[in-house]
Amino acid sequence: MDRGSRPSLGKDKAEQMNRRVAMGADCSSSITHATRILLCLSLSATLCRSDPDLLVDFCVADTASPASLHLNGLACIDPAAARPEHFATSALSRATNPTPFGFNVTVTSPVSSLPGANAQGLAMARTDLAPGGVAPPHSHPRASEVALVLSGSVLVGFADTSYRLYTQLLRAGEAFVFPRAMVHFLYNVDAAAPAVVLSGLNSQSPGAQLLPLSAFRTEPRVPDEVLKRAFKINGQDVQRIQRNLGGSS
Ligand SMILES: *[C@@H]1O[C@H](CO)[C@@H](O)[C@H](O)[C@H]1NC(C)=O
Repeated sequence: MDRGSRPSLGKDKAEQMNRRVAMGADCSSSITHATRILLCLSLSATLCRSDPDLLVDFCVADTASPASLHLNGLACIDPAAARPEHFATSALSRATNPTPFGFNVTVTSPVSSLPGANAQGLAMARTDLAPGGVAPPHSHPRASEVALVLSGSVLVGFADTSYRLYTQLLRAGEAFVFPRAMVHFLYNVDAAAPAVVLSGLNSQSPGAQLLPLSAFRTEPRVPDEVLKRAFKINGQDVQRIQRNLGGSS
């Protein structure tokens, strides 16, 4: 690149930035609420990328390749062999049976259900909540999440690192954002009807850590002395909680 072209490139960059700043300013002005939310979402999506960008149009997962190759993501098939079905899935169409907590989650996976999503930096999840069911406090270390209630009434919330809680009661069609890695929960407040929640996550490998299991159902176990002191409980409490969570103690 010759020296002469640099200033004009810089100027274009600066204009782009100005436009973004102007869009940011619009977020707090008089445009409609919905447009404002969409604008702010797309703005934060441009500024806060999660997974690394692709160097090609797509990278359909080669699920048959030998496990001797270890990559950040999955190897791609020959692009000429890509078919429309690689980009479609029915994995989220089926209701699932609730776990003891009263919830069950199906996440799309480039390995088993959606090879066309490999290296696209996204995943989708369907959460089925039984009447009164809870997706207990948990965290996704690698993804922000936006959860849309398809049916039912769901109380959602997350705690930030100052332990301030942000909660909202969502009805069908309403959505809520769980910022990346923040501990959050979903609770079906209806004791008579199930609820279904559809989520988008900005990583193909969001990961999930359920707080109750991180404390009481690890393998090997967190030492009793640690749990007793951390939760201000006695040894019997520790064993009772472990049993209630399906442990053998
Ligand atoms: C979630 O539901 C599926 C389908 O009903 C079931 O096979 C699976 O065991 C359930 N998961 C858990 C952890 O219970």
